[in-house]
Amino acid sequence: MRDGYEGTGPGAITPDGCAVELYSRLPIGDEPEIVAGAVPAGAHILELGSGVGRMTHPLVERGFTVTAVDESPEMLARVRGARTICGSIEDLDLGETFDVVLLASFLVHAGDVEVRRGMLRTCARHVADGGCVLIQREGEDYHTNLPRERVDPTGFTVRMLSSEPVGEGVNSVRAEYVFPDAVWTQTFLARPLTQEQFEEALAEAGLRVDKYLTPDRIWVRAVPAVPAVEVREG
Ligand SMILES: C[S@@+](CC[C@H](N)C(=O)[O-])C[C@H]1O[C@@H](n2cnc3c(N)ncnc32)[C@H](O)[C@@H]1O
Repeated sequence: MRDGYEGTGPGAITPDGCAVELYSRLPIGDEPEIVAGAVPAGAHILELGSGVGRMTHPLVERGFTVTAVDESPEMLARVRGARTICGSIEDLDLGETFDVVLLASFLVHAGDVEVRRGMLRTCARHVADGGCVLIQREGEDYHTNLPRERVDPTGFTVRMLSSEPVGEGVNSVRAEYVFPDAVWTQTFLARPLTQEQFEEALAEAGLRVDKYLTPDRIWVRAVPAVPAVEVREG
Protein backbone atom coordinates (compact mmCIF):
# COMPACT_ATOMS: atom_id res chain seq x y z
CA MET A 1 0.00 0.00 0.00
CA ARG A 2 1.26 3.49 -0.80
CA ASP A 3 1.84 5.68 2.30
CA GLY A 4 -1.33 7.61 3.21
CA TYR A 5 -3.55 5.30 1.13
CA GLU A 6 -5.84 2.64 2.56
CA GLY A 7 -8.88 0.63 1.56
CA THR A 8 -11.28 -1.63 3.42
CA GLY A 9 -13.98 -4.03 2.25
CA PRO A 10 -14.28 -7.35 0.45
CA GLY A 11 -11.75 -8.51 -2.15
CA ALA A 12 -8.41 -7.25 -3.44
CA ILE A 13 -7.37 -3.66 -2.67
CA THR A 14 -4.90 -1.76 -4.88
CA PRO A 15 -1.84 0.12 -3.53
CA ASP A 16 -3.87 3.36 -3.72
CA GLY A 17 -6.74 1.87 -1.67
CA CYS A 18 -9.21 1.07 -4.48
CA ALA A 19 -11.27 -2.10 -4.16
CA VAL A 20 -11.33 -4.21 -7.32
CA GLU A 21 -14.84 -5.54 -6.72
CA LEU A 22 -16.14 -2.03 -5.98
CA TYR A 23 -14.79 -0.67 -9.27
CA SER A 24 -16.36 -3.62 -11.09
CA ARG A 25 -19.73 -2.55 -9.69
CA LEU A 26 -19.52 1.23 -10.16
CA PRO A 27 -21.42 2.42 -13.22
CA ILE A 28 -19.74 4.74 -15.70
CA GLY A 29 -21.15 8.21 -16.30
CA ASP A 30 -20.76 10.49 -19.30
CA GLU A 31 -16.94 10.21 -19.34
CA PRO A 32 -16.73 8.03 -22.49
CA GLU A 33 -18.89 10.59 -24.34
CA ILE A 34 -16.58 13.41 -23.27
CA VAL A 35 -13.52 11.47 -24.43
CA ALA A 36 -15.13 10.37 -27.70
CA GLY A 37 -16.18 13.95 -28.44
CA ALA A 38 -12.66 15.29 -27.95
CA VAL A 39 -10.55 12.91 -30.03
CA PRO A 40 -10.54 11.53 -33.59
CA ALA A 41 -12.71 8.45 -34.27
CA GLY A 42 -10.79 5.18 -34.04
CA ALA A 43 -7.84 6.75 -32.21
CA HIS A 44 -5.35 4.58 -30.30
CA ILE A 45 -5.73 5.56 -26.64
CA LEU A 46 -3.18 4.94 -23.89
CA GLU A 47 -5.34 4.79 -20.76
CA LEU A 48 -3.36 5.36 -17.55
CA GLY A 49 -4.88 3.91 -14.36
CA SER A 50 -7.57 1.93 -16.18
CA GLY A 51 -8.69 -0.11 -13.18
CA VAL A 52 -11.06 -2.92 -14.21
CA GLY A 53 -11.89 -1.18 -17.49
CA ARG A 54 -14.92 0.88 -16.46
CA MET A 55 -13.89 3.46 -19.09
CA THR A 56 -11.90 1.07 -21.31
CA HIS A 57 -14.88 -1.07 -22.24
CA PRO A 58 -17.18 1.72 -23.46
CA LEU A 59 -14.25 3.18 -25.42
CA VAL A 60 -13.53 -0.17 -27.08
CA GLU A 61 -17.26 -0.48 -27.89
CA ARG A 62 -17.06 2.93 -29.59
CA GLY A 63 -14.31 1.66 -31.90
CA PHE A 64 -11.21 2.99 -30.15
CA THR A 65 -8.11 0.85 -29.69
CA VAL A 66 -7.05 1.00 -26.05
CA THR A 67 -3.83 0.13 -24.25
CA ALA A 68 -4.70 -0.03 -20.55
CA VAL A 69 -2.07 0.56 -17.85
CA ASP A 70 -2.48 -0.10 -14.14
CA GLU A 71 -0.23 -1.14 -11.28
CA SER A 72 -2.82 -3.65 -10.06
CA PRO A 73 -2.80 -7.07 -11.76
CA GLU A 74 -6.14 -7.84 -10.10
CA MET A 75 -7.70 -4.79 -11.76
CA LEU A 76 -6.18 -5.55 -15.16
CA ALA A 77 -7.36 -9.18 -15.05
CA ARG A 78 -10.90 -7.82 -15.56
CA VAL A 79 -10.08 -5.70 -18.62
CA ARG A 80 -11.46 -7.09 -21.90
CA GLY A 81 -10.76 -6.12 -25.50
CA ALA A 82 -7.63 -4.05 -24.75
CA ARG A 83 -3.91 -4.67 -24.48
CA THR A 84 -2.96 -4.45 -20.79
CA ILE A 85 0.31 -3.35 -19.19
CA CYS A 86 0.95 -3.79 -15.48
CA GLY A 87 3.22 -1.21 -13.89
CA SER A 88 3.43 2.23 -12.37
CA ILE A 89 2.32 5.10 -14.57
CA GLU A 90 5.19 7.34 -13.52
CA ASP A 91 7.80 4.77 -14.65
CA LEU A 92 6.12 3.83 -17.92
CA ASP A 93 8.30 4.11 -21.02
CA LEU A 94 6.88 2.01 -23.84
CA GLY A 95 9.03 3.47 -26.62
CA GLU A 96 5.90 4.15 -28.67
CA THR A 97 3.43 6.99 -28.99
CA PHE A 98 -0.35 7.20 -29.05
CA ASP A 99 -2.95 9.49 -30.63
CA VAL A 100 -4.44 10.05 -27.18
CA VAL A 101 -3.11 9.63 -23.63
CA LEU A 102 -5.83 9.52 -20.98
CA LEU A 103 -5.13 10.42 -17.34
CA ALA A 104 -8.54 10.31 -15.66
CA SER A 105 -9.86 9.60 -12.16
CA PHE A 106 -8.18 12.70 -10.65
CA LEU A 107 -4.78 10.95 -10.79
CA VAL A 108 -3.20 14.30 -11.61
CA HIS A 109 -3.96 15.26 -7.98
CA ALA A 110 -1.54 12.62 -6.60
CA GLY A 111 -0.44 13.54 -3.07
CA ASP A 112 3.24 13.08 -3.89
CA VAL A 113 4.45 15.86 -6.20
CA GLU A 114 7.08 13.56 -7.70
CA VAL A 115 4.41 11.00 -8.61
CA ARG A 116 2.36 13.73 -10.29
CA ARG A 117 5.43 15.00 -12.17
CA GLY A 118 6.24 11.47 -13.27
CA MET A 119 2.67 10.88 -14.45
CA LEU A 120 2.59 14.07 -16.52
CA ARG A 121 6.00 13.28 -18.01
CA THR A 122 4.65 9.84 -18.95
CA CYS A 123 1.76 11.59 -20.71
CA ALA A 124 4.15 13.87 -22.59
CA ARG A 125 6.51 10.98 -23.50
CA HIS A 126 3.75 8.86 -25.03
CA VAL A 127 1.72 11.40 -27.01
CA ALA A 128 2.20 11.31 -30.79
CA ASP A 129 2.89 14.41 -32.88
CA GLY A 130 -0.50 15.97 -33.45
CA GLY A 131 -2.00 13.92 -30.61
CA CYS A 132 -3.43 15.02 -27.28
CA VAL A 133 -3.56 14.24 -23.58
CA LEU A 134 -6.97 14.15 -21.85
CA ILE A 135 -6.95 14.84 -18.12
CA GLN A 136 -9.75 14.70 -15.56
CA ARG A 137 -9.31 17.23 -12.73
CA GLU A 138 -11.13 17.58 -9.45
CA GLY A 139 -14.19 19.83 -9.48
CA GLU A 140 -13.96 23.06 -7.51
CA ASP A 141 -16.10 21.79 -4.61
CA TYR A 142 -14.26 18.48 -4.33
CA HIS A 143 -12.77 19.20 -0.89
CA THR A 144 -15.58 21.36 0.53
CA ASN A 145 -19.19 20.90 1.73
CA LEU A 146 -18.23 17.67 3.50
CA PRO A 147 -19.57 15.27 4.46
CA ARG A 148 -21.83 14.88 1.43
CA GLU A 149 -23.52 11.88 -0.10
CA ARG A 150 -25.10 10.80 -3.33
CA VAL A 151 -27.60 7.99 -3.65
CA ASP A 152 -26.99 6.30 -6.98
CA PRO A 153 -30.13 5.08 -8.81
CA THR A 154 -28.46 1.69 -9.34
CA GLY A 155 -28.69 1.04 -5.61
CA PHE A 156 -25.70 2.26 -3.65
CA THR A 157 -24.69 5.35 -1.71
CA VAL A 158 -21.37 7.13 -2.03
CA ARG A 159 -20.30 9.37 0.85
CA MET A 160 -17.39 11.77 0.77
CA LEU A 161 -16.76 11.78 4.50
CA SER A 162 -13.88 14.17 5.05
CA SER A 163 -10.90 15.93 3.57
CA GLU A 164 -8.34 16.98 6.16
CA PRO A 165 -5.11 18.87 5.52
CA VAL A 166 -2.11 16.70 6.34
CA GLY A 167 0.59 19.19 5.40
CA GLU A 168 2.28 20.84 2.42
CA GLY A 169 -0.87 21.36 0.37
CA VAL A 170 -2.04 17.76 0.67
CA ASN A 171 -5.39 16.53 1.99
CA SER A 172 -6.29 13.11 3.32
CA VAL A 173 -9.68 12.22 1.82
CA ARG A 174 -12.03 9.54 3.13
CA ALA A 175 -14.81 8.07 1.01
CA GLU A 176 -17.34 5.33 1.69
CA TYR A 177 -19.41 3.25 -0.72
CA VAL A 178 -22.40 1.48 0.79
CA PHE A 179 -24.11 -1.35 -1.12
CA PRO A 180 -26.90 -3.53 0.30
CA ASP A 181 -24.45 -6.44 0.74
CA ALA A 182 -21.07 -4.75 1.20
CA VAL A 183 -19.31 -1.57 2.31
CA TRP A 184 -15.99 -0.29 0.98
CA THR A 185 -13.95 2.64 2.24
CA GLN A 186 -11.00 4.38 0.68
CA THR A 187 -8.57 6.83 2.24
CA PHE A 188 -6.21 8.62 -0.13
CA LEU A 189 -4.02 11.68 -0.47
CA ALA A 190 -5.05 14.41 -2.87
CA ARG A 191 -3.30 17.66 -3.70
CA PRO A 192 -5.82 20.31 -4.76
CA LEU A 193 -4.58 22.39 -7.70
CA THR A 194 -5.89 25.77 -8.73
CA GLN A 195 -6.22 26.26 -12.45
CA GLU A 196 -2.97 28.21 -12.37
CA GLN A 197 -1.13 25.48 -10.43
CA PHE A 198 -2.53 22.84 -12.79
CA GLU A 199 -1.35 24.76 -15.84
CA GLU A 200 2.10 25.22 -14.23
CA ALA A 201 2.29 21.46 -13.62
CA LEU A 202 1.46 20.85 -17.28
CA ALA A 203 4.11 23.34 -18.39
CA GLU A 204 6.74 21.61 -16.24
CA ALA A 205 6.06 18.45 -18.22
CA GLY A 206 6.16 20.25 -21.58
CA LEU A 207 2.39 20.32 -22.02
CA ARG A 208 -0.17 23.12 -22.34
CA VAL A 209 -3.94 23.39 -22.23
CA ASP A 210 -5.48 23.16 -25.69
CA LYS A 211 -9.06 23.38 -24.42
CA TYR A 212 -11.14 22.99 -21.26
CA LEU A 213 -13.70 20.52 -22.54
CA THR A 214 -16.43 20.97 -19.94
CA PRO A 215 -17.85 24.18 -18.41
CA ASP A 216 -16.67 23.06 -14.93
CA ARG A 217 -13.11 22.73 -16.35
CA ILE A 218 -12.84 19.20 -14.97
CA TRP A 219 -11.97 17.70 -18.37
CA VAL A 220 -9.00 19.16 -20.17
CA ARG A 221 -7.39 18.49 -23.53
CA ALA A 222 -3.66 19.21 -23.39
CA VAL A 223 -1.08 19.13 -26.15
CA PRO A 224 2.72 19.30 -26.31
CA ALA A 225 3.87 22.87 -25.71
CA VAL A 226 5.98 23.54 -28.76
CA PRO A 227 8.41 26.44 -28.49
CA ALA A 228 7.23 29.59 -30.26
CA VAL A 229 8.65 29.84 -33.77
CA GLU A 230 11.34 32.48 -33.90
CA VAL A 231 10.56 35.15 -36.50
CA ARG A 232 13.71 36.55 -38.08
CA GLU A 233 13.68 39.89 -39.79
CA GLY A 234 15.49 40.70 -43.02
C1 LIG B 1 -9.75 5.36 -8.69
S1 LIG B 1 -9.27 3.98 -9.63
C2 LIG B 1 -10.02 4.38 -11.17
C3 LIG B 1 -9.96 3.33 -12.20
C4 LIG B 1 -10.59 3.69 -13.53
N1 LIG B 1 -9.92 4.83 -14.16
C5 LIG B 1 -12.06 3.98 -13.36
O1 LIG B 1 -12.49 5.12 -13.57
O2 LIG B 1 -12.79 3.06 -13.03
C6 LIG B 1 -7.54 4.36 -9.86
C7 LIG B 1 -6.75 3.25 -10.57
O3 LIG B 1 -5.46 3.75 -10.86
C8 LIG B 1 -4.48 2.83 -10.46
N2 LIG B 1 -3.31 3.62 -10.07
C9 LIG B 1 -3.28 4.60 -9.14
N3 LIG B 1 -2.06 5.14 -9.07
C10 LIG B 1 -1.30 4.47 -9.96
C11 LIG B 1 0.06 4.58 -10.37
N4 LIG B 1 0.86 5.50 -9.84
N5 LIG B 1 0.51 3.74 -11.33
C12 LIG B 1 -0.32 2.80 -11.89
N6 LIG B 1 -1.61 2.65 -11.54
C13 LIG B 1 -2.10 3.49 -10.60
C14 LIG B 1 -5.09 2.04 -9.34
O4 LIG B 1 -4.51 0.76 -9.24
C15 LIG B 1 -6.56 2.01 -9.74
O5 LIG B 1 -6.87 0.87 -10.50
